[in-house]
Order: sequence, then C-alpha cells, then structure tokens
Amino acid sequence: MIIRNFRKILHGGDYNPDQWLHVPGVIDRDFELMGKAHCNTFSVGIFSWAQLEPEPDRFEFAWLDSIFERCGGSGKKIFLATPSASKPAWLAHFWPDSRRADRAGIRQWWGARQNSCFSSPGYRERVRIINRKLAERYAHHPALGGWHIGNEYHGECGCPLCRDKFHHFLRRRYGTLENLNQAYASAFWGHTFTDWDQVEPFDYSMDGAALDWWRFCTELIVDFFKMEIDAVREYSDAPVTTNMMGLFPTLDYWKFAPLCDFISDDCYPDWSGGDTEQEAARLSFRHDMHYAMLDKPFVMMESCPGVPNYMNRPALRRPGEFEREMLLALGHGADGTLYFQWRKSANNCEKFHGAVIGHDGSDQTAVFRRVASYGEKLERLGGLAGARKNPRIALIYDWESKWALEQCSFGGGEKCKQHDETILSHYRALWNRNMDIAVIDSGQDFTRYKLLAVPMLFLFKRGLAERLRKFAEQGGTVVATYLSGYVDESNRCFFGGNPGGPDGRALFGVWNEDLDTLPPEIPQSIRWKGKSYPVLDYAEILHLEGAEAEGVYTQDFYAGTPAVTRKRLGKGCLIYLGARTGMEFLNDFYGALLEETRIEPVLRGLPDSVRAERRTAHSSGDYYFLFNLSAHEQTVPLPFAMIDVWNCGMETESVILPPNGATVLHAERGPEK
Ligand code: GAL
Repeated sequence: MIIRNFRKILHGGDYNPDQWLHVPGVIDRDFELMGKAHCNTFSVGIFSWAQLEPEPDRFEFAWLDSIFERCGGSGKKIFLATPSASKPAWLAHFWPDSRRADRAGIRQWWGARQNSCFSSPGYRERVRIINRKLAERYAHHPALGGWHIGNEYHGECGCPLCRDKFHHFLRRRYGTLENLNQAYASAFWGHTFTDWDQVEPFDYSMDGAALDWWRFCTELIVDFFKMEIDAVREYSDAPVTTNMMGLFPTLDYWKFAPLCDFISDDCYPDWSGGDTEQEAARLSFRHDMHYAMLDKPFVMMESCPGVPNYMNRPALRRPGEFEREMLLALGHGADGTLYFQWRKSANNCEKFHGAVIGHDGSDQTAVFRRVASYGEKLERLGGLAGARKNPRIALIYDWESKWALEQCSFGGGEKCKQHDETILSHYRALWNRNMDIAVIDSGQDFTRYKLLAVPMLFLFKRGLAERLRKFAEQGGTVVATYLSGYVDESNRCFFGGNPGGPDGRALFGVWNEDLDTLPPEIPQSIRWKGKSYPVLDYAEILHLEGAEAEGVYTQDFYAGTPAVTRKRLGKGCLIYLGARTGMEFLNDFYGALLEETRIEPVLRGLPDSVRAERRTAHSSGDYYFLFNLSAHEQTVPLPFAMIDVWNCGMETESVILPPNGATVLHAERGPEK
C-alpha cells in the first residue's frame, strides 16, 4: 500500500487551493466536485511557500489547516508538498545566493520556478525551516498520506559554492590529480590539471569531465533531497517521494530511488502523433522502470485529464484514450493515477493546461465526466492495491551510459545515435509479444531474470562483464548490441578491443574491429534464419573469437562476415547484434528467442494490436489488463474464464474492446506461471 491503512487505488491530483483563497465559493465547489469525481488523494502546497510564509518566520497555516480538515472530514488523503520548488521573492532578496548562476557565475533573476541553487546555505536553511514547520504541524493529522518532496528537481549551477563542491566531489572520486589526469587522458589538447580548481564545471570539451559533472549534479540534488527528507523526518514518518520525469536527460534517477518510500512520476504522452503503439510502448517502458526501481507499486503523480497546453497541436483526446492511458499505468504497477491539475489557474503560463475543472467550473464537460466515470470504476479495484509483478525479462537503461554515448563525438549525431529510441525498440519487440518486463540499471541484481536485453550499453561499469558471465553460466540469456562496451566509467576507451576490453571480448567471444556508420544511400542488410533484413545507421565489423555466427552481412566489402553472434557459456548464452535493424528483425529475433527460452507471455493468442499486463494480488488472484492500441473494435478470446471487473462484473470467456479501449479482468486462479 502506498498510504498506510488506505487500501485504495489513489485518484486525485495537484490541488492548489492557495490560488483561490480570495474567490468566494471556489473551494466549496472543489470539494463538491471532488466527491462527484470519486477522488481520494491530492498533492497540496507544491508552489505555496509564499502563502505559507509571506515573510521570513511569519507563518500562515490557517488556509492549509482548513484544507486538511476538509480532506480529513471526507476521507481524502493529502500528499503534502515541501514548497522548495518555488521560493518566495523575499528569499531571493534576502539570500541572493539562492538564485542559480550560469557558467560565467552570473546570478539568474528571481522569477519562474525550480531555479534555486542547491548549495546555497540560505536557501537550504529556509527550506529546512519551512519543512520542519509543516511536518511538526501536520505529522499526526489523519489526512496526511505522505510527503511530496520538492517538485521535479533538476538543474545545474555555476556559482562559486557549486564549483567548490564539484571539486570536492572529484577529490573524493579520484584521490589524486594524477589519477584524474589519467582517467580523463587530459594530455589530449594539453589539458593536464595541476590544481583541482582548474577543472571547469560544464566543460563538455572533455568527455570524462562532462560525465563527472552530470554525476555531480545528480549527487548534489540527491543530497538536497535527503536534507529535505531529514527535516520532515524530525516529526513525521509518513512515506516520502519526489516526482520524477521519466527519462529526463540530465538526472540519474537510479540514485534517487533508494531515498523514496515509493516512486512517483509525471507522465504526459501525446496520442495525437499517429503511432499509438510507439507511444504506448514508451509509456509502458517508463512505468516498468518505475516499478523496478523499488520492486513495488508506484504512483503516476501527474498526468493530464485533458491536454497539456504546450503541445504542438494539442488535439483533444479521442474516446477511450484517457482511460487506456490510466489503465496502462495501473497495469504496469501503479497504485494510483493523479492529475496535473485539479483546476485550471486563472492566469499565467498554465492557464490553458488541461485540468479536471475548467474556468467554467462545470461538471458537464467531457473531461470531468470521464474522470468521474474512471474514478467510480476505480472503486471496483480495491483488491489491486499492492498487487505485484513478476517479470522474467529485464532490459537495461543506464543514464551514465547514455551520457557517455551522447557526449562522444562519434557515430554520427543525435539523430543517428538515438539512445532512448534504440532501447525502446528492444522493449517494444518484447512488449509486442505481451511479455512482462523489468527496466533496470546495470548495477541491479540479474539473478531473478531469464533474459537480459542490454541494447547499446556504451559504458561498461567495473565488474559488469563478470556479472554477465555469472548470469549466463547459470542459464541466463544476454542480448547485447552494437555500440556496447566502448568506454569505462571515465568515458575512457577500453584497451584491448571492444566490446568491453579483453574481458568483455572474451565473454561475448567476438571482437568488434570497427563501426560502419551508414548514410541512407549506402545499403546494407543481414541474413538471419534464411531471411534478409535491412541495416540502418550502424554495422560493426565483427570477428569470431569463440562465438558462432547466426547472421551475416550481405553487402559491400564485409559481405559474409558475422553480424549476429552467439557464445554458449555454461547453461546460458550471450548474443551480440552487430547491426541496427528495423522493427521487423527485432520482432522476429525476440519472437524466436522467447520460444527458445520458454518465457511465457502474460496471455497468448491476442490480436496484433492488443497488449496485456498482469498483476498478482497477494490474497485475491490475478488482475489482467487488456489494451486496444487500434482505432477499431477488437474481440479478444480469453484462455480461461475471468470476471470483467472493470465493466460488468460478469464472468466471460471473451472481451470486446472498443476503439482505443482498455479493460481489467480478474481471475481467482491464473494458469500455471
Ligand atoms: C510538470 C510540473 C507541473 C506542471 C506540469 C504541466 O512538469 O510538475 O507543475 O507544470 O508539468 O504539464
């Protein structure tokens, strides 16, 4: 359960009553409509610092007290925010170093949000004070469900304090300048450092320094997050979280996860792009990552009940899309779906952002009606809260590897590298087969999985090759690809060949001599199991050193050389895909591999455009989620009778999914897994 003693699927959103304190009737109407919408949980106070502390040490809690009373009185829970995301003007005035600085050390102006310096002693102290005040006051209130710490932390600062902390970080990491110079190979361009202070933050001209800067920014923010939690913990032991932003490029969220009691994430998919399957897979991928981070249910903390204002062409949602989006989260392990935002603001940059309540205050809009209908149906899923997932397949996503790859001047530009898209394409091929998948980082335990997909893991951390070896020896199957194991943790190239230097090369039984980065006008393809598949962007020149070739290139000067290899090891094997292909190959390849490894899908025999997820509740059996990714009705035969809990509560052996529809079925006892 996310909230102690609250066995419900959470439903609600960001609620900002502080914007309406002087407008009669609005808050009364909010509470009336919250009831109608079957909402039970709200994040409150995210941007309320100026209302809670209008001037230093003068606190005004009366308005928040009354929100707590109203929520408590109507059985609702509050995720109380610490308001650090948006500092009051007085704070920036009295503590100017709370404003972030750019690379040249120039301080930013006060406005906007999420732009404070995480090192600033004044800012840290004021955050500690307000957090302690909030925790002291509300720790024992029955409406308190948990702590929403900060909001979407991110950013970097070039002030003298941050510089200094960065240099301390480097000292801790390398011990001596000699070690740092070696790791950075700083003799290149004569950038040998003779003093720690010479290492520039934001120095993207040095691949190792760039990687360390991003590592440092994550560490600094995690430290700030911990400081916020510690302040709250002086009074309250309610669960804490901070809302993540999916694959946000410059934060390593794996480092935040251990501090959270539950993971939460903000999700804004765009269903208007025309490729529903791709968008659904993208969303599913991040949900699977958020479940895997703590191996337990998470919360979709923000989602849009209408459409976000900032999208290119914010097309209204088509029937079915909203409910399918919410159920996608629940099916992948969420125990709650909340919205940004409950009510549209009266002004400023989010005044047209989708919300449950618009400026008309109506409960007759399509948005309100679908939210209310979804909320009502959620009450049928009480038994789902806490239900688990048990994936046997894991896919690796490492931020450090992504940073290293994207930082390198090599392998074409961003459009060519496509780090996230590549990993997603492997996920997609597995999800297309209705597999239950965990998205993990390379530091996690592999032993519970049977298949490990490691696409484009450019950076091999220390010990990885050994851990992959053990995994394979004990019966696991590893799939690695082109652009894997080129650099170590300092972004320094491996000596002794790729993938992964001598250890990795021996492990995969293959030597990658070079990379052909192909423009579209140079054709290449591979032949695998008698069929030919086009190669896109990348083809590595491989030599067998213990592996067998299962696929070969068909064109150009390396025609006939290995493109897909397999090394058998102990009870398992390691497969290396030397070339980037389209989805057709990935679908066929993983299809064959799944048959070979006998990993069962969630359900078999589904129509092509239908996907399934399963969660297992401790006491009440399995919940099956079905998603129609097409704009046509789909009839789905079920392998055994289940109760259609979402729609009719009746037992059924087949389900008709409307266009873009989704449903939830319940089975007391599933088939053997
Ligand atoms: C999130 C943010 C919210 C709101 C929302 C709009 O990133 O946390 O406060 O701005 O985006 O989509």
